[in-house]
Amino acid sequence: MHIPQLLQERFVAAIKDLTDDPETFASMIRATTDPKHGDYQCNAAMPLCKKVGQDSRTLAQTLVERLDVLDFCEAPEVAGPGFINLKLRDTFLCEQLQKMLGDERCGVTKVASGDNIVIDFSSPNVAKPMHVGHIRSTVIGDALARTLKFLGYNTITDNHLGDWGTQFGIIIYGYKHFGDPATVESNPVPELSKLYRHVNQLIEYRKALAAVPKTKAAITETEAELVAAKSALTSADAKAQKSAKKLVGAVERRLAGLNDDLDSLDEKITGVTSDPALLADAEKHPKVDVAVLEETAKLHQGDKENLALWEKFLPHCKDEINRIYDRLDVQFDHTLGESYYHPMLGPVVQQLEAKGLASKSDGAVCVFLDGFDAPMIVQKQDGAYLYATTDLATLQYRLDTFHPSEIVYVVDTRQSEHFVKLFAVADRLGMSDIKLVHVNFGTVLGEDGKPMKTRSGSLTGLESLLDGAVDRARQVVCNPDRLENFDPPMDEAEQESIAEIVGIGAIKFADLGHHRTSDYRFNLNKMVALEGNTSTYVQYSYARTQKILERAEKAESDVLELVKQHGVEFTHPAERSLALMLLKFEEAIVAVHKDYAPNMLVEYLLETSKVYSKFNEQCHVLRAESETIQATRLMLVTLCGRVLNKGLNLLGVNVVPRM
Ligand code: ARG
Repeated sequence: MHIPQLLQERFVAAIKDLTDDPETFASMIRATTDPKHGDYQCNAAMPLCKKVGQDSRTLAQTLVERLDVLDFCEAPEVAGPGFINLKLRDTFLCEQLQKMLGDERCGVTKVASGDNIVIDFSSPNVAKPMHVGHIRSTVIGDALARTLKFLGYNTITDNHLGDWGTQFGIIIYGYKHFGDPATVESNPVPELSKLYRHVNQLIEYRKALAAVPKTKAAITETEAELVAAKSALTSADAKAQKSAKKLVGAVERRLAGLNDDLDSLDEKITGVTSDPALLADAEKHPKVDVAVLEETAKLHQGDKENLALWEKFLPHCKDEINRIYDRLDVQFDHTLGESYYHPMLGPVVQQLEAKGLASKSDGAVCVFLDGFDAPMIVQKQDGAYLYATTDLATLQYRLDTFHPSEIVYVVDTRQSEHFVKLFAVADRLGMSDIKLVHVNFGTVLGEDGKPMKTRSGSLTGLESLLDGAVDRARQVVCNPDRLENFDPPMDEAEQESIAEIVGIGAIKFADLGHHRTSDYRFNLNKMVALEGNTSTYVQYSYARTQKILERAEKAESDVLELVKQHGVEFTHPAERSLALMLLKFEEAIVAVHKDYAPNMLVEYLLETSKVYSKFNEQCHVLRAESETIQATRLMLVTLCGRVLNKGLNLLGVNVVPRM
């Protein structure tokens, strides 16, 4: 049940002959924040009144007279300049909740189309350990896939693994120069990660050495700029002084950024120089950066040795990430990595050239696009293909194979330009009837507001984050003070399983709770807390619903029976508030789809938990005053448990029966 949609239909009928765009006006329906104004409010009269030539209040009155909603609303009221306040009838709420109780979809309508939607998410570059940056695509993509599937779309999830890029050049080089074949054989995953880190550190060291003089020069220049900017601070003119102050602030921030850069370059350098063995390797491999690219190029050209190494390493790299996906409870329909498209890249470039879309420029094959300074390069001078070429091949393959109406790419905001160009090329290739969406997202920051790094300067590993969250969850939920209250007592295995579910859920929920386009600061203590905007709180609310049902010794089918027998009726405002909240479940899910914004569901679940908590404080279930009241409350508790469980499930967060 989507109440605003139902209201919208009725408003369209009432407005139809007043404007040629009734849908837009009828869609101006919002849930109210204060129950004094009813449950929903329509704000159409204000923008519509000029077109109709009436004042807004009179128009609102006219609309109310024409509006046919009495079958589910109380008589609408006009307030202020022409707000139309709508309050749902209690009988309607009761009826809808009873329907929900008998419906395993919790009253959420399925979309009729059943279109195919491809969701490209997670997509890490394998061969290096997954880091904090991978959490967002994985978690947001999974939540969207689950939600769209529940709504009735045919979702096709594809993990577009980076299994063919420079990172393989890195481990191939590492294996050839530093690898111990026996260890790779006996303990492949840690050994390959070690080789990756080792070679990467040498590359970063070289890059840092080259970058230091440039950064120092930039600092000197900026310091001079700062002196100049500061001299204007003493200007007699107030306006000039103000703008000088602003400029000084900006230059100071830039200088601080450069100094931070220099620090992290220094860290990378001392990381190597302070370790004699590492330094010796760095000195023995001064051209490591170029050599790694050469190994990658050889792999792409089909060099037997490199191809054999790639085939040997890839399954281990996949094992490593699959272990994390298992822990995160994330699955994919397909894992067609970049390597899968390798044979299609040549033909893609030829096709672009044949259609006159691509042309040679400085030896590279480029697609020039209106409105962009730089073209999309699809083949480099040396014959190598690029990320963009693979994405074009992938796009063509997906169209031919899955016939989707929509493809969703859940990828970091920093790749926005790549996708704008990709979609522009797709358009010129005649793919305009398929909806291509870049669901972009911001960065996970450390508590200092900077991208989250480990002490050695690499991005924090995903696994250690998960471990940290589970440890924290164990302290918060399974501490001795809390454990005392459980009967039968919780054994170790149950405690472990709760800690894992609460810890992993907390990381996902916190990530999904921020609007995806904003950066956020990672704070485990806030994420796992029992109180606050956390999944722990929602999971705990769910567990409370289960406890009540257990004490009442009622299964869902019993509740359904009681409701039939005794009927339902609201006698307390907290019951009605909870009922209304539960009926808004579909609205929240539809909102997630509309903007690819899982935070809408997060907000809904938190709000529902809060309303449930009030209900819990104010309404006795086991000691209810009459059988009808008890049936009503048991129905609310049952539905609340189901909605919280399903809602969390759509976000990829699990629940436990008690905690
Ligand atoms: N592997 C890429 C990266 O880590 C992300 C791939 C996203 N998907 C795509 N079709 N380009 O940056």
